[in-house]
Amino acid sequence: MALLKALRTNPLECWTKAHFEEPIVLGGFPFMRYAVVSDPAAIRKILIDDQSAYRKSTIERRVLRSRMPNGLVTVDGKQWGRLRRTLAPLFGRIMTAGFAPAMGGVAADVVERWQNLADGAVVEIKAEMSRVALEALVGCIFSEGLGDPKAVCDATTRYYATCGGLDPFDILGLPDFVPRFTRLGVQQVLRDFYEALNAAIAERRRSLAAEPNAPRDMLGAMLAAKDPQTGEHMTEAEVRDNVITFIFGGQETTSSALTWAIYLLSQSREWRERVASEADAVIGSPVQNALGALVQTRAVVEEALRLYPPIIGITRTALRRTELAGRTIDRGTMVVISPYVVHRHRLLWRDPDVFDPTRFLPERSKTIERYTFLPFGVGPRMCIGAALAVQEATIVLAALTRRFVLESVPGQAVWPVIDFTMKPRDGLRMSVTARLSRAESRAAE
Ligand code: HEM
Repeated sequence: MALLKALRTNPLECWTKAHFEEPIVLGGFPFMRYAVVSDPAAIRKILIDDQSAYRKSTIERRVLRSRMPNGLVTVDGKQWGRLRRTLAPLFGRIMTAGFAPAMGGVAADVVERWQNLADGAVVEIKAEMSRVALEALVGCIFSEGLGDPKAVCDATTRYYATCGGLDPFDILGLPDFVPRFTRLGVQQVLRDFYEALNAAIAERRRSLAAEPNAPRDMLGAMLAAKDPQTGEHMTEAEVRDNVITFIFGGQETTSSALTWAIYLLSQSREWRERVASEADAVIGSPVQNALGALVQTRAVVEEALRLYPPIIGITRTALRRTELAGRTIDRGTMVVISPYVVHRHRLLWRDPDVFDPTRFLPERSKTIERYTFLPFGVGPRMCIGAALAVQEATIVLAALTRRFVLESVPGQAVWPVIDFTMKPRDGLRMSVTARLSRAESRAAE
């Protein structure tokens, strides 16, 4: 009962010492067995070599299916293969780099907003970063905007409030037609948002028909995209569900990553200075070139993703009896790979709880074993937006650290909870002080 309660309120509190010390820990309820797997060879087996023996966990599918039935995260089998092939080019190197200026623009907007605050003013970082991440995504998907940004932001915030912990009915495996009380009202919350989305898609179809050179943002690319194997376009429902998937999959995760990166920097004067000096040195170069030069900033982002991975569980269901890390796994067992546990595992990392971004500097990062760092998962179902998210977090973190000293408000307890992603329970209040005077800022432009 206590475990069910913790799963519902803060799944992070379910981990015990053994999870961080053993390669595999088995457990469960009378109605469901689970295995928490941290052994790198076993992780590789589940997510790559033997992936056909597992399917995305039914819990995950139940939670998401009602919201985005045709989204890449939710679908399986042939439909997943077709969608992944069709959508892959949208997240390729060229498209991703092409979004850097839009992300730089979003970072410049928040810098400008904060510059108008009095020195020492307190801001709530998680809310600010949610706005930044949403604006960046909307900028990448709809370069012409998506209605009132505040209304969109409010709709997504209310939506997330309904999908934090796991619904006990999902854990128990009750069928979809049994109403989930924790999710009542979700459709109502989303109605306006869906309407704005449908209107934007219809409008874009019209403008593409009239003007083939209409904007090459993600929406345009999605409407034009074809499966390279069959030449098929995506259906209307697939386009809409995947726009929603990208917004919901990308906003909370990236904003949580940025929030933790800002928090960690506030605890290390040395790294704050390293990031700020790096940003000073590369500012003025075109954003794309600057990005390659922001190696220290990127290392901080990756170290934040290690210590506070926004998604703490990658779950699969075993489709047949198998063996992992020397233990027998029964058919139907839920296999959990937790980036949080793996990234802080005593057998896999030296000083796992210490903030040390040098782990991710170019030379040292080559020694990191692939299956010990997986904030985005690994294998065919790895996060499609990984490069986009790291690029955005790096650009925004550099821009903010260059201009401001952000300090955690004294006496504030920063406690991570799972509320869809891992975030600080009561938000993160920080004081904002200009690092450069206005005259220095102008001179540095
Ligand atoms: C820091 C930010 C992010 C983190 C930590 C993150 C993490 C993850 C993880 C752990 C998975 C699941 C892997 C699995 O089950 O095997 C995933 C899948 C996915 N992510 Fe992300 N993600 C982030 C940002 C984004 C962004 C920006 C987008 C899109 C714009 C996105 C879109 C998706 C999609 C569509 C999938 C499903 C892929 C598939 O099943 O083929 N994510 N992500």
